[in-house]
Amino acid sequence: MTSQSATPSTEGASRAERLASLPLRHDLRGKSPYGAPQIDVPIALNTNENTHPVPQDVQDAIVAEVSRVVGTLNRYPDREFTQLRRELAEYLGHGLDQDNIWAANGSNEILQQLMQAFGGPGRRVLAFVPSYSMYPLLSAGTNTEFIPGVRAEDFTLSAESAAAQVREHRPSIVLLCSPNNPTGTALEDDVVDAVYRAGEESNTVVVVDEAYAEFSRFPERTALRLLEGRPRLVVSRTMSKAFALAGARIGYFAAAPEIADAVRLVRLPYHLSAVTQATALAALRHRTTLLADVADIRMQRDRIVDDLKRMELDPAESDSNFVFFGGGIDAPTLWQDLLDRGVLIRDVGIPGHLRVTAGTEEETTAFLDGVRAHLEDRSAAARDSETEQDPANR
Ligand SMILES: Cc1ncc(COP(=O)(O)O)c(C=O)c1O
Repeated sequence: MTSQSATPSTEGASRAERLASLPLRHDLRGKSPYGAPQIDVPIALNTNENTHPVPQDVQDAIVAEVSRVVGTLNRYPDREFTQLRRELAEYLGHGLDQDNIWAANGSNEILQQLMQAFGGPGRRVLAFVPSYSMYPLLSAGTNTEFIPGVRAEDFTLSAESAAAQVREHRPSIVLLCSPNNPTGTALEDDVVDAVYRAGEESNTVVVVDEAYAEFSRFPERTALRLLEGRPRLVVSRTMSKAFALAGARIGYFAAAPEIADAVRLVRLPYHLSAVTQATALAALRHRTTLLADVADIRMQRDRIVDDLKRMELDPAESDSNFVFFGGGIDAPTLWQDLLDRGVLIRDVGIPGHLRVTAGTEEETTAFLDGVRAHLEDRSAAARDSETEQDPANR
């Protein structure tokens, strides 16, 4: 909006004052939007994207599939994206069929639709922090109270503790992030099962957010195995990470068919465009090529863990495409030093810790070299200051 279009009463007011003058919902006042820094740097390892470009033959297949639907864009797309649900079910396996599948514009929209359907005013959503930073924002957007559940000091979550917190808070929804963002490690089945059973009395919907499942050290240990006989369990997935399609915005879930019926009540009609459906189908049909890079990303991730350990830092074991690490670092200083070297990673606001996405081999090398140089500079500075303080040198 230009300044000419401002109303007379807000002329000269700051942007924040103009926002405050609008009839914004009371529960949204003072809130900040999602804000991972978008800084133009040579090496961006801050938002857990797949930094490997989409292979040329998959690009060609996507273009061909999209060009097939371009002539029909005067019409609304298949509102039920039936073919896509069928092929997603086939990809997931575990005896699932199209009635078990739902898709949306990224798993963020999946989570938002679940919160619209099962959350809302007077209801609570429980997640175990630190976890994905969008959970509280999606809660705020749907006017659902966010309960920050606790983890152990080492960020792990036991079945007993998780179940006790579900019984205490009786939330409408529990969000279990596995592998967890930002800490990187996957949950054991017993935690999911204990949370599900603890939510029996409060009829709690349990969402396992498996955005990073394909990167796991044990990809077969997915909550998809637990869906049978658990009608309140939902497993959320995305094509943004392993499938390298963050820009295409495709997320999906697997659950009992009635969960999909619930989100049908809140989704916008035709929310998944024909272009999105075509892109997703082409990617799924070329998944062997597309997912081939997952092995390399896992290798780079393990290399980060090993090298950081060698530098006497403290990386968490990771089942994802990123590594969360601490170990006596001054997080803001290291973050800035890496940025000065052209490498952007993520300060997730947990004192003494940072998170880095596993990149290509070259990107990962640049990150590791940057950390090594930072630690060497720090040791040299500490040695210099010791020498200065030594009375023998005065
Ligand atoms: C744990 C987790 N869930 C969901 C998402 C959302 O991904 P998308 O909306 O791109 O599918 C992310 C993105 O970083 C994430 O880290």
